[in-house]
Amino acid sequence: MAAKVISGNEVAAEIRAELKTRVAELKEKGIVPGLGVVLVGEDPASISYVTSKAKGSKEIGMFEETIRLPEDVPEDEVLKVIDNLNKDPKYSGILVQLPLPDHISVENVISYISPEKDVDGFHPVNLGKLLRGEPCPLPCTPHGVQQLLVRSGNDPSGKNVVICGRSNIVGKPLAAILMQKAEGANAVVTVVHTGAIDIAYYTKQADILVAAMGRPEAITADMVREGAVVVDVGVNRVPDSSRKRGYRLAGDVDYEPVAEKASFITPVPGGVGPMTVTMLLHNTVESAIRLSEK
Ligand code: GUN
Repeated sequence: MAAKVISGNEVAAEIRAELKTRVAELKEKGIVPGLGVVLVGEDPASISYVTSKAKGSKEIGMFEETIRLPEDVPEDEVLKVIDNLNKDPKYSGILVQLPLPDHISVENVISYISPEKDVDGFHPVNLGKLLRGEPCPLPCTPHGVQQLLVRSGNDPSGKNVVICGRSNIVGKPLAAILMQKAEGANAVVTVVHTGAIDIAYYTKQADILVAAMGRPEAITADMVREGAVVVDVGVNRVPDSSRKRGYRLAGDVDYEPVAEKASFITPVPGGVGPMTVTMLLHNTVESAIRLSEK
């Protein structure tokens, strides 16, 4: 079987067009969704992510501001910046780009963001609501994975979903989203990680296999069931001297051989990547609406 490619670029464009219309309607009522992004340091990957968040915001008509702080900024300075964003009604959403330098506690910073403006969905209050199945902003990458599945006709309900990777940003929240008794979810979810003795034992049983462990091309064809839906969350920079920039981007899936066996597959780049920013825009618009109703 040669897999159908699920284009994140196409699904993202569809959702962003919907959001652009909603932002225009909100503006007519005097509501302008606004996103405040905090970037600490000069990590090239983080700069690239933050740039696409700013560009995406502007394209749908939202206000966006990135606050750039030096690598050695003290933690309390970061907290002061968040405090200002929490209080300023211009911002309906706040995001602190991760990772942060080692001297800054991710837990302290995330917990300091007002849960009402937490458009990453990482605040402990929002993660608690997510587990309990209460309304909350969904973490963007897992929400993007869910949208890719649903909008490509692969509703996870009743399916055996195997997630490789247990990160706080992807694996854990994705498991929490897909296990809920809710539309676009209701799956039987297994989370596989480095503690598993035989990872392939689990992956071979997946109707839907999600690779999110951050290891280039680690999911090989022998680990995948014929006809499975494969979603690749990995974005790895692999050294490649034949490229001008000195690296190539590789997912966590060994793409060509796996695409021969799968029924659907997401590419890297152009799969999950564009969905993350899109769901961030979605959360910011939703947050603006909720805050305007208070
Ligand atoms: N770094 C990598 N992914 C993410 C994300 O979804 N949100 C934030 N804030 N930082 C990230």
